[in-house]
Amino acid sequence: MERIVCLVIGYIFGLFQTGYLYGKAHHVDIRKQGSGNAGTTNALRTMGWKAGAVTFLGDCFKCVFAVVVVHLLFAKNYGDILPLLSMYAGMGAVLGHNYPFYMHFKGGKGIAATAGLLVSTTNVWMVLICLVSFVLIVGVTRYVSLGSLAVVIIYLIEIIVYGKMGGFGMQGAHLMEMYIIAALLMLSAFYKHKENIKRLLAGTENKLSVGKNK
Ligand code: G3P
Repeated sequence: MERIVCLVIGYIFGLFQTGYLYGKAHHVDIRKQGSGNAGTTNALRTMGWKAGAVTFLGDCFKCVFAVVVVHLLFAKNYGDILPLLSMYAGMGAVLGHNYPFYMHFKGGKGIAATAGLLVSTTNVWMVLICLVSFVLIVGVTRYVSLGSLAVVIIYLIEIIVYGKMGGFGMQGAHLMEMYIIAALLMLSAFYKHKENIKRLLAGTENKLSVGKNK
C-alpha cells in the first residue's frame, strides 16, 4: 500500500508542467511549437534559455519535492526501505510528467524528472558522472536526445553499482525492486524518445538550438 501512496504522491507532483505553464504565461503553447514536447529542450528551442532553465529546474525539483514529502511521511515507520519508496515517488513523478491526465496524457519525456530522482537518491559523484557525460555528448553531437538516452542508461548502471556497494542500505528483493524501477525508467525514456531515435538513425534529428527569450 505504501508503494502505491508514494507513486500517487509522485504522480501529483509530476503533473506540474513547468514548460507548458511557462509557455502559457507567455502566450505560447509549447505542445504546438518545435518538437511539440512539453520539456526542457523544447522550451529552450521555442522560448529561449530562460524558459529552458526554468523548465529544467521546475521539472527536476518537482521530483525532488515528491521524494522529500515521501521522506517526511514514511521515515518513521518505513525508514529501512525509504530509498525504495523514493524510487516509487520518482517513478510517479515521471509518469505524471509524461502522462498528465489534464493534458490528454501528452506531457514530456521525463528526463529532468529522472534527474531529480538521481539527485535525491544517489550521491554527488553519480550526479557528476551523469552531468559530465550529458554535457560531453550534447557538446560534441548537439543532440540533446542522444545525451538524454545515454544518461538514463548510465543512471540504471549507477543504481545497480550503488546498490551492490551497499549505498542504499538495502539488500535482496527490495534492492532488486529498485533495479527494476530504474530499468523501467530507462525503458520509458526510450519509448518516449522513439521518434527521436528514428530521426537519430536517419541523421535528421533536431540539433540543440536556443530560441529568442520570451
Ligand atoms: O528530454 C527531451 C530531449 O531528449 C528531446 O527533446 O524536444 O528534441 O524531442 P525534443
